[in-house]
Amino acid sequence: MQLFTMPIHSSSMLSLLVLLLQILLPTALNHGYNRSEVPALIVFGDSIVDPGNNNILTTLVKCNFPPYGRDFLQHKPTGRFSNGKIPSDMIASALGIKELLPAYLDPQLKPQELLTGVSFASSGAGYDNLTAQIMSVLSLWDQLELFKEYIEKLKAITGEERAARIVSHSIYIVIIGTDDLANTYFGTTLRRAHYNVASYADFLVGSASSFYQELYKLGARKIGISGLPPIGCVPAQRTLAGGIYRDCEASYNQAAINFNLKLSKAVEVLNTELSGSTMVYIDIYTSFLNLIQRPFDYGFMETSTGCCGTGKLEVAIFCNDLNPYTCTDVSKYVFWDSYHPTEKAYKIIIDRIFNDYVHRLI
Ligand SMILES: *[C@@H]1O[C@H](CO)[C@@H](O)[C@H](O)[C@H]1NC(C)=O
Ligand SMILES: *[C@@H]1O[C@H](CO)[C@@H](O)[C@H](O)[C@H]1NC(C)=O
Repeated sequence: MQLFTMPIHSSSMLSLLVLLLQILLPTALNHGYNRSEVPALIVFGDSIVDPGNNNILTTLVKCNFPPYGRDFLQHKPTGRFSNGKIPSDMIASALGIKELLPAYLDPQLKPQELLTGVSFASSGAGYDNLTAQIMSVLSLWDQLELFKEYIEKLKAITGEERAARIVSHSIYIVIIGTDDLANTYFGTTLRRAHYNVASYADFLVGSASSFYQELYKLGARKIGISGLPPIGCVPAQRTLAGGIYRDCEASYNQAAINFNLKLSKAVEVLNTELSGSTMVYIDIYTSFLNLIQRPFDYGFMETSTGCCGTGKLEVAIFCNDLNPYTCTDVSKYVFWDSYHPTEKAYKIIIDRIFNDYVHRLI
């Protein structure tokens, strides 16, 4: 504002122009797309992309207390399961939409935020309804009900036509499934009594297919669907199943690989069957495993324990400020708690998947 109250000489005009170009050009050149083509980012999933929806639920699966959020804006614990930003924020920001993707259930959410997107994700959820039920969190189908409510709110704010355009032109990202295998299948006997690991994967992929068909019916067209990370390598699974040396549990990783193969084939089928849709399977397994196998390439020193507490089991309420063992230099860690990566690790993975996969949805 100050600038325009001064008499503007051509030289200051020129420097203003140069400044504007410096700010605007890199984004335009890097991404080569027109921001107005992607009005919003809509996210479904689990703790990898939950910005705090669980805060208002009666569940133990939450983290809106320190040291979570230690490196977030104003060091604020928001319910994000990391020390800083999470992948939903990073993707919104890389798309040039906004810096942070808010939680749909945030009581402070401003109606204007709906126009550029929200996350419906709920930590602890899965493709299997039972997974959310065990943890008292929102199932993927509960999240879909909230999305229907969202569309109605959008119509009320912008009118039918613009709301329909936002729904059909937006990018949808879904990151879910880890808790089905890690918690429900390997962590309890509830599903193992009726399924072997292969038939459970088929069951999950069947559930996934019906979810994406419903999402399509509601108007979504550009959907990025993430596979699973190497779940046998997260610190908690190393502790619980990795033996005295806390190795990556190979059979858990193999289960993730087999599930990913089935999911990626199902995504291909959906992509051809649902006309006018672009469905992209996103492989996060490879880049995640790469971080764990080549940590020094990225300046990491520790891959098998998390920063919070002893790093071997602590997550959610057990990762708190009363725990004296929390690390001081988080930049050396791939994992923040015993399940979730640090902001730095997330950033490396998201940069890679953005170029390789999310870009194809723009
Ligand atoms: C960006 O997209 C809008 C809407 O589709 C269009 O009107 C505008 O001309 C585009 N701008 C550029 C630079 O392509
Ligand atoms: C999960 O629950 C929803 C809502 O109750 C239901 O429509 C869906 O069929 C269930 N999915 C599976 C795989 O049981």
